[in-house]
Amino acid sequence: MNRGSRIIGYGTALPERVITNHDLAQTLDTSDTWITERTGIKERRIGGTTRALGIEAAQSALDMAGVEAKDLDAVILATTTPDRVIPATASSIQLALGARCGAFDLNAACSGFVYGLNVGHGLILAGAEKVLLIGSETLSRFVDWEDRSTAVLFGDGAGAVVLSATSAEDNALLGWALDCKGALEKSLYCDFGGFIHMDGREVFRQAVRIMVATCEHALQEARLSIEDVDLVIPHQANTRIIQSACDKLGVSEDRTVQVLSWTGNTSSASIPLALADAASNGRLAGGDIALLVGFGAGMTSGSALLRWDL
Ligand code: UT7
Repeated sequence: MNRGSRIIGYGTALPERVITNHDLAQTLDTSDTWITERTGIKERRIGGTTRALGIEAAQSALDMAGVEAKDLDAVILATTTPDRVIPATASSIQLALGARCGAFDLNAACSGFVYGLNVGHGLILAGAEKVLLIGSETLSRFVDWEDRSTAVLFGDGAGAVVLSATSAEDNALLGWALDCKGALEKSLYCDFGGFIHMDGREVFRQAVRIMVATCEHALQEARLSIEDVDLVIPHQANTRIIQSACDKLGVSEDRTVQVLSWTGNTSSASIPLALADAASNGRLAGGDIALLVGFGAGMTSGSALLRWDL
């Protein structure tokens, strides 16, 4: 089979309303110092709908790729915060963009974008030519703004990429790994009509361990070593989690992308937001190898090794 996939465009969307740590300290027993030192977050963007943010990010990715929505073969929306229970928010995005293809939501929490990348790649290997992958979230709707242990962490936003079929020689997805540890479900959950509950310390501990494991798995599959990786693009939950995982992997922090200081944790939008930031700031050159790694509720984890060629 002479087929592979590559990214040919990316886009982002963030709400206009900014909530700083100082704003939160007015209503919660917290401080800018505590939030900055414990998480690396200084501010987050709040507002909009998963649909609207997703459309904006998707349209800019399509524009960059020079692809018309009518030519898409699938729309995948990675989200843990759909606008409604039924139908999938992807249906509404598909309609607004003018696409005429299959569309579905994918919920793998903060690993959703990496899961979606692998699913999109699989669709392309099965014959699709163009796949739109979006990560869009409005977590602010599920945060208890009176709970300082979670309110300071999350933000809203979206990121999207267009995947295109290419030859096997030009295939950009060099290796991947997906995992889920269902036994850890209780450490991070949100029931219908409720708020996000999290055992922060436990999630932190597990996150470092599973990030390292999923990265090593993908590297092994691609027959690459961590020295071959130019840039690590991790899920943006906590600077200390990123530092700790990178220490264990043997990657210095200057080889990571971090946007969480101004986005907060945007779940499945966080990796495409970081990817777009790195690409648009010249931190990814043609031929560079990026290691995308996510972890989240479930507890899910996933990694993807990408050869950048935009
Ligand atoms: O997307 C994936 C999901 N989420 C994550 O990856 C988050 C993973 N966990 C974390 O990032 C960290 O565990 C947190 C940032 C949530 C918490 O940091 P921590 O260093 O693990 O703090 P802790 O939970 O051990 O709490 C330390 C202290 C506690 O007070 P006592 O018991 O020592 O008196 C908390 O009550 O900090 C207190 N605390 C706060 N103080 C000021 C908790 N939240 C706050 C706050 N402001 N916002």
